[in-house]
Amino acid sequence: MLTSRFHRRDAFRVAAMLTGLPVAAAARAAMPLPDSKLVEKDADKYWLRIRKEQFVLPEWRVFLNNGSLGVAPMPVLQAVGDFLHRGAAMMMPDGEYPRWGYEALDTHREEMAKYLGCDRDGLAFMHNATEALSTIAAGIDLKAGDEVIMTDQEHGSGKAGWALKKARFGVEVREVPIALPPKSPEEIADRLISAIGPRTRVLFFSGITTATGLVLPVRQICDAARAKGVTTVVDGAHMNGQIAMRIDQLGCDYYAGSPHKWMFAPAGCGILWGRPEALDRLWPSIVTAGWDQRDRKGARFMGVGTNNRAIFEGMTAGVRFANAIGPERIFSRIHELAKSVRERASKLSYLKLLTPDDDRMYGSLVTFLMPGIDRKKFNELCSKRKMWIVGGERLRVSCHIHTRRSDLDMLFDTLEQSRT
Ligand SMILES: Cc1ncc(COP(=O)(O)O)c(C=O)c1O
Repeated sequence: MLTSRFHRRDAFRVAAMLTGLPVAAAARAAMPLPDSKLVEKDADKYWLRIRKEQFVLPEWRVFLNNGSLGVAPMPVLQAVGDFLHRGAAMMMPDGEYPRWGYEALDTHREEMAKYLGCDRDGLAFMHNATEALSTIAAGIDLKAGDEVIMTDQEHGSGKAGWALKKARFGVEVREVPIALPPKSPEEIADRLISAIGPRTRVLFFSGITTATGLVLPVRQICDAARAKGVTTVVDGAHMNGQIAMRIDQLGCDYYAGSPHKWMFAPAGCGILWGRPEALDRLWPSIVTAGWDQRDRKGARFMGVGTNNRAIFEGMTAGVRFANAIGPERIFSRIHELAKSVRERASKLSYLKLLTPDDDRMYGSLVTFLMPGIDRKKFNELCSKRKMWIVGGERLRVSCHIHTRRSDLDMLFDTLEQSRT
């Protein structure tokens, strides 16, 4: 017997033949989202359907490491595939020649800017947060003796640009320790702001830290730094898509993001944003004709030579996917899952939580140390149970909309089975 799925695929092939479109292009509308009324009736059922119908994650995979790299849903995969097909067929949607890596992608940036809460012109598409952070660090004029301060919780991709500046120009770089777990957002802000000295020019920090998923009070920190004349650079790799936020409400000068973590983008998508005056004085690192035309604003940083524009089509499809489900609905689900992880972990004597119980200080990442766990046994069991999670001395659990409650049950069972 033919399945309805087969019928559908067949119909797309016929449609593709009739329209002359590549098969992947004709299949775009394949799976509509489940009726949103189902969320109120049976939330778990709704999210299980989202996982099954919108993602290609196999049933047996337990994936709890979205914080390193997220998974793209079907509409995103289709958008990437369609665009590659069209490029190869020399059939671009608006009849243009498929020359990628030189254009401003205004309509894509417009759509992204609406989602991120910022102006289109301040935005540049990059290939990851590392590229954006490196561009910012390399592009700010600093001289020997000027100081950059940052927390002691920064990701290597954020720190390295400033380390390079230190090695090359003699810029001072200082790390400010923050408590793990901190008592309050105010405590973190106090530590960073009181560390600003007479030579501090730049304050760099993550809005959500990579190591423990701690949410920092970005606005409070940026406003105080600004009042002292210090440039602020926010590493937002974990922010967009994980928590509710608008870039234009953060108060920072520069922002770097990583849509391939929490925003459903395919791997290889990043963003850089800057205030108009901050972008104006930033030197680009990768350049082609037009690099010095400052009226191009964010687009001045997008002329990088031929790249894979299909991934930016996928990134835009990811924004549409998030909007179709609803950013608030997504946040409320993933934060609720994280809360349940935190609560369960807090009751286990063999774990030591690093995620504070203050609800403002975490989104959907929960981290704990594992003093009472045989790590070798734990790793072996994870691999046997096909569970992907990031951890060594500490474990960081990422929850996204494809995370099932059964995945979390399996995690806690695996921990229980791995006690020393
Ligand atoms: C806080 C933070 N910044 C930057 C990065 C680098 O991101 P990307 O791989 O998109 O360059 C990561 C990656 O995990 C991160 O956690």
